[in-house]
Amino acid sequence: MIIALNNKSNLSKDEFIKYQQNLSNINSSNKMILCPTFLNINNFNLTNFSLGAQNVSMNNDGAYTGEISANSLKSYNVEYTIVGHSERRIYQKESLEEINEKIKKLLENNIIPILCVGETKEERKNNKTEEKIKEEITSAIEGLSDSDKDKLIIAYEPIWSIGTGIIPSNSEIEEVFKYIKTFLPNNKILYGGSANEENIELLNQCKIIDGYLLGGISLKPEKLKVFISKLEK
Ligand code: 13P
Repeated sequence: MIIALNNKSNLSKDEFIKYQQNLSNINSSNKMILCPTFLNINNFNLTNFSLGAQNVSMNNDGAYTGEISANSLKSYNVEYTIVGHSERRIYQKESLEEINEKIKKLLENNIIPILCVGETKEERKNNKTEEKIKEEITSAIEGLSDSDKDKLIIAYEPIWSIGTGIIPSNSEIEEVFKYIKTFLPNNKILYGGSANEENIELLNQCKIIDGYLLGGISLKPEKLKVFISKLEK
């Protein structure tokens, strides 16, 4: 399984150094990926995790003030990058075209994109979940070769579940995962949204899940260790 930690906009320099010490003794058979803030990427020193970023510029190096290019991420040994997180789509108004460009830039630099998709509560209520997922996936993979498409990791993160403590039922998760597989049959699919040490046993009954993208619990190493040990039982 893949366990990816999304620190979001958290952990100052000193906090991150202490945090890494707490993560350093995690011995897991799972593929562990840590996605710290851009600044903390420079202080990453774990050997039991691969390094990820939370975002990337849609442009190459150049006159784009405040942006970080895929080439620059690669030079800091970033291997994975989250793209199209709902928080960026909503707060930064990231468009479908921008997300497609970002994925292309990452692939050109041999960085694996972790593409986030998911519906709002309203969309689920109005039976628009598949329509939303289809739009987010087809636009993201537009213009990619089949072999590049296969490199993507998908994270299904229902927006109504992120940070709310509410998770979808296993059958709801299975339905969406199967739908995603109609576009991307060869890709790993993660679940994200309020996954924690208390609901992992239930989620883990869902055999279609290839791993998890964790927000809140990523900041709590002790709870994270319980999560991992339950997952490995
Ligand atoms: P939470 O685990 O805090 O719900 O966040 C999930 C998420 O957005 C990971 O990218």
